[in-house]
Amino acid sequence: MIFLEGDLGAGKTTLTRGILRGLGFAGRVKSPTYTLVEPYTVSNLYLYHFDLYRFSDPSEWEDAGFRDYFNRDSVCLIEWADKAEGLLPAPDWLIQLAPEADGRRLNLTALTTNGTQCLARLAR
Ligand SMILES: Nc1ncnc2c1ncn2[C@@H]1O[C@H](COP(=O)(O)OP(=O)(O)O)[C@@H](O)[C@H]1O
Ligand SMILES: [Mg+2]
Repeated sequence: MIFLEGDLGAGKTTLTRGILRGLGFAGRVKSPTYTLVEPYTVSNLYLYHFDLYRFSDPSEWEDAGFRDYFNRDSVCLIEWADKAEGLLPAPDWLIQLAPEADGRRLNLTALTTNGTQCLARLAR
């Protein structure tokens, strides 16, 4: 579970696209602004990209079956997670993005044991 934080245009969707490309996904990666979630399958990995900017009603959460997306077999990248406050578990990673010069500054914080282990592996 990864929360992506940053203003509109900070690069949250672009980073998600980059992660998918890095994993070898060659298809289209579009912003889930209207659909709320875009699902991807990369080899045996399930990756779900959420954009909850337009999310308003918690009942929508149950109706759409979003709870089922959060399990041990999937990676969830979530833009605007604060819109679903109280419905989501704590993230393993919090990634904060902000514009800097022509690029972006990325700040990554691991918040769970899983997250800390993944970060240590990434650092190696
Ligand atoms: N690391 C980056 N360096 C330069 N431009 C970027 C970077 N990340 C995103 N952008 C540009 O910023 C714009 C908004 O990016 P986007 O990923 O849609 O933001 P968000 O999803 O946070 O609203 C796009 O035009 C994109 O090309
Ligand atoms: Mg976006």
